[in-house]
Amino acid sequence: MRIWRNKKRLSSEIDMNRIPVHIAIIMDGNGRWAGLRGMPRAVGHRAGVEALREAVKTCDALGVKYLTVYAFSTENWKRPQSEIGILMSLLKEYVRKELDELHANDVQVRVLGNVEQLPQDVREAVLLACERTKENSGLIFNLAVNYGGRAEIIQAVKSIVKDVQTGKIDADTINEDTFENYLYTNGCPEPELLIRTSGEMRISNFLLWQAAYSELVVVNECWPDFNEKSLIEIVRIFQNRDRRFGGIKKEEE
Ligand code: FPP
Repeated sequence: MRIWRNKKRLSSEIDMNRIPVHIAIIMDGNGRWAGLRGMPRAVGHRAGVEALREAVKTCDALGVKYLTVYAFSTENWKRPQSEIGILMSLLKEYVRKELDELHANDVQVRVLGNVEQLPQDVREAVLLACERTKENSGLIFNLAVNYGGRAEIIQAVKSIVKDVQTGKIDADTINEDTFENYLYTNGCPEPELLIRTSGEMRISNFLLWQAAYSELVVVNECWPDFNEKSLIEIVRIFQNRDRRFGGIKKEEE
């Protein structure tokens, strides 16, 4: 049974026929959001989980096919152990609590990143969510956990080298399509839209290969303040962008 609202026109300002197929989000600013309110960073992360729940529902309602969120980077291990512990338990709690609802709404959960290095309970919770929802045909929800764009490229190169050495593939035939098959995002189209909250103008090692031609939209609001209205406004901005992919406009030819 679907429990979220059905797909419908969410705004008169956006063209529901030109919704990005794949949206990626760098959910930044939880710590600052909490700091500005004189609260501990953990409160910001918890509020960030609520914003994530809303973003998933909004993407589903808009008819977005792929949503990829940066939940924990390979660099986030540099944070104090206490904060790492909070982020890991929030992740576990999030996938456990949301699993039934995600599944009921036909969402397919996937994980991008090196899950082997996660604490066992977190790894098991995430992998269970992936396993249980793997046949779902609705929104594909990629959780980037212990993810780094450089690490992803290195692991792809290592796997390609192995496949060349064992004769599975011929080195001369390697092209961009071959390479993409070895990335964590294998089978996902590239994100047309990459959103970052909290005003920082960086991509922070997120989807380095895949975001080559993504439209970047940076908003000043911190992630916990991000809501349905924010996402719709960003889609409107995206729809007004002129995407040329290195070419020129048709009318200029
Ligand atoms: C950035 O805030 C956010 C993260 C480190 C990861 C995103 C985490 C969440 C949205 C909450 C947890 C959700 C899950 C599913 C684990 P920051 O701490 O870098 O903020 P700051 O730049 O203001 O310090």
